Amino acid sequence: MVQGLRIALAGLGTVGCGVLKLLKDNADLIERRTGRKIEVIAISARNKNRDRGIDLSRYDWVDDVVDLPKRDDIDLVIELIGGSEGPALELARACLKKGIALITANKAMIAHHGMELAELAESSQIPFAYEAAVAGGIPIIKGVKEGAAANEISQIFGILNGTSNFILTTMEKDKRGFEDVLAEAQALGYAEADPTFDIEGIDAAHKLAILSTLAFGTKLDFDSVKTSGIQTVTLSDMQKAAQMGYKIRLIGQAKKNTQGLFQKVSPCLVPCHHPLAQADGSLNAVVAQGNQVGRLLFEGAGAGAGPTASAVVADLVDIARGGYATPFGIPVQYLEKADTDKADSDKQSVYIRLSIANTAQAISKLVAFLADADISLESLNQQEGQDQETSDVILVTKACTSEAIENLVKAFNGLAEIKSVPVTMDILNI
Ligand SMILES: NC(=O)c1ccc[n+]([C@@H]2O[C@H](COP(=O)([O-])OP(=O)(O)OC[C@H]3O[C@@H](n4cnc5c(N)ncnc54)[C@H](OP(=O)(O)O)[C@@H]3O)[C@@H](O)[C@H]2O)c1
Repeated sequence: MVQGLRIALAGLGTVGCGVLKLLKDNADLIERRTGRKIEVIAISARNKNRDRGIDLSRYDWVDDVVDLPKRDDIDLVIELIGGSEGPALELARACLKKGIALITANKAMIAHHGMELAELAESSQIPFAYEAAVAGGIPIIKGVKEGAAANEISQIFGILNGTSNFILTTMEKDKRGFEDVLAEAQALGYAEADPTFDIEGIDAAHKLAILSTLAFGTKLDFDSVKTSGIQTVTLSDMQKAAQMGYKIRLIGQAKKNTQGLFQKVSPCLVPCHHPLAQADGSLNAVVAQGNQVGRLLFEGAGAGAGPTASAVVADLVDIARGGYATPFGIPVQYLEKADTDKADSDKQSVYIRLSIANTAQAISKLVAFLADADISLESLNQQEGQDQETSDVILVTKACTSEAIENLVKAFNGLAEIKSVPVTMDILNI
């Protein structure tokens, strides 16, 4: 039998403890599949005395995570601390510089520092793997990087954040408001005490940036992801969408064409029959469009101890089998710097909600602004507002460019008759 693989685990939270449990429960299976014994040698987290519900006595405890790669008895470190900077990044750099293989589930760190870490890994051909960083238990990294490697991918899109999907689908199912369901999600442990990254779309944007690089061979460009979250979605938006045959989902969309790279995370209206509309609760679902294989759909658990540990250990199995793969499929020096400055000329319909003054001129001014922006309407629905002075208006446009919508919203914001910041949602037609 080949020599065992000696690993250290940094971070013993939801995923870290999930990995220890999985390695124990499936030890025989993993040994048969890799031909090697996986030995956890050392562990580290912030608080040694925390009760984690599992026996840790057989592992060496290291007080400072950054000391793990200083040991000479470690072949591979699994980083499950989180955070784009701080100890996770320091540890990742130290491992790859010393020639120790690295597995991480840390999408924030990869979105911000993935190119640097991949270059370090490539310079000495050290494995650096991150299957669990995108869409939890779904093997989307492997699917795009390996399964679809023969294809030119034109677009990749999907539900990339389980917390916001849980909130949206619970609002829809139970007919409850956003704040109420967010509080329940926090109580159930689906949402963190500070839910900003999940509900404002930042976590999904981290994952989308990683998928773009894999799908299009472009350098990671998190800063160019246009991001808006689900905090503006109301129950009445959902009911209106349902009447029109749609569900509301937080969708990350990336596409590359001759104009450049477009990356966006935003709540969208998704046709009820679309596979993305069927992914309920904390599920994730991703669609990739390849020029040979056609449409691929990946769906599964986007978070949680078991599913995320499954993805972490899948990387471990690959590395234990002896494989080295370029972290982003193409060496960093050959990844393109994509053009992200041009406006997307593709057109789609948009749902717009706003509150207007209850005056005779208000609607006619609104319609005049639409005409000025060269936007045609599919429908206009006016209903009672919060008070007697205002009405709520739902506009559904015919297909138009996102630039036209941005200009329209800017123009609306300068109009005295408009009493709320307009909320816009793309209507998915892909
Ligand atoms: N949870 C999921 O479903 C999921 C899914 C996909 C990806 N991920 C990613 O997986 C990673 C871990 O997530 P998680 O949910 O397991 O997080 P978590 O439950 O909050 O656990 C984080 C762990 O890191 C340790 N830690 C935090 N700061 C530290 C520091 N300064 N020095 C040493 N240890 C420190 C904590 O130690 P103490 O326990 O001692 O406080 C804890 O054990 C993150 O990158 C996350 O984005 C999570």
